[in-house]
Amino acid sequence: MAKTNQSSAPPERPEKQPPTGRLGSRNDFRTVGEATGGNPKMQCRNVNVFYGEKQAIFDVSLDIGKNEVISMIGPSGCGKSTFIRCLNRMNDTIEGCRVKGEITIDGQNLYDEKLDVVPLRAQVGMVFQKPNPFPKSIWDNIAYGPKIHGLASTRSELEEIVVTSLKKAGLWEEVKDRLDQPGTGLSGGQQQRLCIARTIAVSPEVILMDEPCSALDPIATAKIEDLIDELREQYSIAIVTHSMQQAARVSQRTAYFHLGYLIEVGQTQQIFTNPRHRLTEDYITGRFG
Ligand SMILES: Nc1ncnc2c1ncn2[C@@H]1O[C@H](COP(=O)(O)OP(=O)(O)OP(=O)(O)O)[C@@H](O)[C@H]1O
Ligand SMILES: [Mg+2]
Repeated sequence: MAKTNQSSAPPERPEKQPPTGRLGSRNDFRTVGEATGGNPKMQCRNVNVFYGEKQAIFDVSLDIGKNEVISMIGPSGCGKSTFIRCLNRMNDTIEGCRVKGEITIDGQNLYDEKLDVVPLRAQVGMVFQKPNPFPKSIWDNIAYGPKIHGLASTRSELEEIVVTSLKKAGLWEEVKDRLDQPGTGLSGGQQQRLCIARTIAVSPEVILMDEPCSALDPIATAKIEDLIDELREQYSIAIVTHSMQQAARVSQRTAYFHLGYLIEVGQTQQIFTNPRHRLTEDYITGRFG
């Protein structure tokens, strides 16, 4: 809450508000917009990420809301992938990568030494740029996770999870007659929906997507985008995309990154129609990136 003015002599007139829509300076890398607050599922505070000596993320604070889709946009190399990998500790798998700051999910510290990352990566699932089905049958691609996480005690429970996950991912009708065939034999768009079904099968709460449609044609992309919109009812979703049209179509909030800094966060429509920072404006108007 804003502090009250303690001055004994109050100004005669209320202070003039800065004009709305005034753009921040290109040299000012402090975040503008509503990065925190609302109804957060995950909270990131002062996150810094290093690869060896090189710093890739600078002091990023951002909340991911419940049942929201938030897009991460920005020029290549600005740290979008590095940042979303912090959200399920995927950076742990990269040698020399260090993450500082605080990240919580439902108030629980993600980087607590005692935290087991295996259930965390089910709770915060990830879909990658290139579909990466296991070299197993369609059925096994989905059943594997619930088996290792002990989510099904009987064959019929497992079947229920497999069928429901494929239905939620919009793939069931296309694969129901060939569940025993290899997942790698599906088309690219189908493989990506298989990977989304695999993520859903272990009951995630947050789904991270790093350019999930960049290898797909417009029809497969449209299917994934529809799916993202439906999934929002149950999950929080953070999606990295190079397509501003996609960000505008699927997300309620958008975060703009530049050289490892979070420059601006806001309602997606505001970011694309009335950006508050000059760097955001430069990017969305195509001056760079
Ligand atoms: N494994 C790594 N080792 C060393 N440096 C890395 C590694 N991964 C990323 N970086 C560096 O960190 C910075 C941010 O990279 P990152 O991949 O997060 O950017 P990005 O915004 O996802 O880019 P793109 O849009 O091209 O995918 C870059 O300078 C990159 O070179
Ligand atoms: Mg990337």
